[in-house]
Formats: sequence, C-alpha cells, structure tokens
Amino acid sequence: MEKLVIDGGKPARAKPFPARTPYGKEEIKEVTEAINSQNLFRWGGTKVSGLERKFAAKYGIKHAVASTSGTSAIHIALGAINPNPGDEVITAPITDMGTITGILFQNCIPVFADVDPDSFNMDPADIEKKITKRTKAIIVVHLFGNPADMGAVMRMSKKYGIPVIEDCCQAYMTYYKSRLAGTIGDIGCFSMQQSKHLCAGDGGITITDNKKYADRMLLFADKGWNRTGFGPRAYLFLAPNYRMNELTAAVALAQLKKLDSVVRKRRQLGILLNSLIKKTSGIKTLKIFEGCRPSFWLYGFKVLDAPAEKFASALNAEGVPCGSGYIGKPIFVCSEALHSKTTYGNSHCPFDCPKTDARIEYKEGLCPVTDTEQPKLITIGINENFTKADIRDIAAAVNKVSDVLD
Ligand SMILES: Cc1ncc(COP(=O)(O)O)c(C=O)c1O
Repeated sequence: MEKLVIDGGKPARAKPFPARTPYGKEEIKEVTEAINSQNLFRWGGTKVSGLERKFAAKYGIKHAVASTSGTSAIHIALGAINPNPGDEVITAPITDMGTITGILFQNCIPVFADVDPDSFNMDPADIEKKITKRTKAIIVVHLFGNPADMGAVMRMSKKYGIPVIEDCCQAYMTYYKSRLAGTIGDIGCFSMQQSKHLCAGDGGITITDNKKYADRMLLFADKGWNRTGFGPRAYLFLAPNYRMNELTAAVALAQLKKLDSVVRKRRQLGILLNSLIKKTSGIKTLKIFEGCRPSFWLYGFKVLDAPAEKFASALNAEGVPCGSGYIGKPIFVCSEALHSKTTYGNSHCPFDCPKTDARIEYKEGLCPVTDTEQPKLITIGINENFTKADIRDIAAAVNKVSDVLD
C-alpha cells in the first residue's frame, strides 16, 4: 500500500491543477462595444436586452429578466409570485444564503425540507410533509448542478397548486431527463457570479414562460417603475433596483457563446471521475437520476467510514484541493437571520409577526439527514480547463487515500 503524504509519502499529484480562464478577446470586444456606445444603462442600450433575448432563446422559453446576482434573480422570482407576509416558502437546507435572502425580504417564512442522503438534493417526501395552507412557493435547488427530483416536485406542485422556482445558480444547461433545469418549474433563476459556468463577476437572470410573472419580474427588478406612458412617475409596488448594466451584459453575452462548451467539458470530466471512483471502497459517488445530465459546478462524493475532514486533509496533502462538509452546517444554522432571527432592527420580523402562523426554531435537528450526512461530503472544484489526465490524477489520489483510511 502506498504511503500517504500525511505519513511521509510522495504526493499523488505533484503539479497544480489548471486555473479557470473564463475571459478573453470575445468579452473585450463586447465590453468595448458597450463603452463605445456611450450608454451603460440597460434602458436605451442593446446588451442587456440582447442577453435576455438570447438567453430565453437558448432555454426555449418566452421571457428572461437580467439582474445583478443570483440572489436578486431569486428575489425577483418571489416578487413575481407576490406572497403575503407570513406566507411560507419551502426550500433546501444545503444551499447558498442567496436562496433564502429574498424569502426574508418578502417577509415570508423559510421552511426547510430535508435532503436525500444520496444526492444532497431536497427529498420530495419531506417537501410534501412541510406543505401547509400558507405554502406559497417551493424553491428547488439543483445542488452542484445535479438535477433534483423534478418529476416528484412537479407532481406535488400540481396536486397542491403551489408554484415552483428552480434555483439553477449552480446548474446551467443541466438536464432533468429531456428537459432543461430552469424550464420545468414556473420560474428558473441563474447566477453569473465569478465561479459559475457562465460568469460576469456578478449577475443574474430569471426565466419564465408565464407572461404575468414576466411582466412583474421586469417591474420588480426596476423599483416597480412603470416606464410606459407620460405624466407623473408611476411606481406600482415596493421593489428594489436590481437592474443589470450594459457592461455586465456585454461580458455575459460573450460567455453565453461559450456556455455549451464549458458545460460539455465539465460534464465529460465529472462523468469520467464518477466512473473512476465509483467502485472505490469507503466512498460513494452522488446519485444521478436515470437519463439526467448534471453540469458539475462542483464535484461531490461522500466518505462513508473515515471522518471526511481527515479524508479531505489527506487528499489536499496529496495535491488535490478539496473541502469537507460543503457549507459546514445547514444554511439556517450558518445564517444569524435564521438561527438567532436577527433581521430588521431589534425586531425578529417576520418570525414574530401576527401575520405569521409558522413558529420555527432554526436549529440543528430541523433537518436530521442534513445534520448527519453533510459532514460526510467531500467537494472538489473541477473546471473546464482540466484534462482527462488531471481527472485520472484526482481518481488516483482518492483511491490512494481511501485505501489507507478505509
Ligand atoms: C445554489 C445557489 N443559490 C443562490 C446563489 C446566489 O447567487 P449570487 O452569489 O450570484 O447572489 C448561489 C451562489 O453561490 C448558489 O450557489
């Protein structure tokens, strides 16, 4: 058995892995055009509207509204659905805070459905258990770009008449069976933050086929400002300014052209790594539904026997950068806005509001599968510049560590 680096052995991988290089002459050309136009504001420009049109066409959907981040894209989706204060939104315990922020800013109550221990995506059976008469939306997160069980979620959506928002911030061009994640529910939301498949530093986009939602989405991203007509300004409802600017859209337009090749490459590499370590003892690759095509924003697997922290330390020492436990705790423990209900001033709004029925303590124990399973996760950041040889090195290192630690 080969000696691990932590025991004084030689590393499985001696040189660093390739970094991402997402931007180049295509982005420079688009940005230069935007600057030369002397207008970087979406209204009157061509880049933001062009991005919305082309993104919608790529997804085969009628409407898209660009914005400043994935967080704003999700807030815009909720603003379109327009829940009442105290209404409940069911979502995932393993996600970024951006999934939750809009729920709280709409004075709604986040309700967490536990995860399937094999995929870390929301468990539809637990979603159903959490539905009440106050449930106004379900936000499904496709974690790491691996599609959640949308068949079961959509059956529930129909049965209870609850709209579904898909958080695709990690899941560009991800297929659940034959359909693109983001087009299966009522509204799909994407992030263009630097680490995402399509990136522009920051940015977001929200898509829908529903004209009523689309009209409200556009207004919601623009302070509720009804810009049609003359006379006094008309701000139709309370809404923030989440408008994307022309510079961001210029970068995103160039990125959109590269999206297919980025996702194709990541998918190839992720599937290769799955095939190389799926028989490794002491670990488990994540479940992918039959006929689905993930996009591997992060590559994740589960350590079954050894402590994942120890496994990750050994793997890092072997020259494979990785993390254990992903976000560390369920999101409601990571967030003081939930854990200690630190929200607006010294109030605990909306949690103690008379319009609220749900009285939830956001503590460990709320999602027991997440508590026991998330610490077993190992995540590795693969990217489109990796080669098959890089992936084989990762697999060799995983096999080496599991041989010793298992
Ligand atoms: C699943 C998920 N949802 C929402 C967000 C929020 O996106 P942004 O950082 O662009 O606001 C992220 C970003 O990391 C994410 O991964």
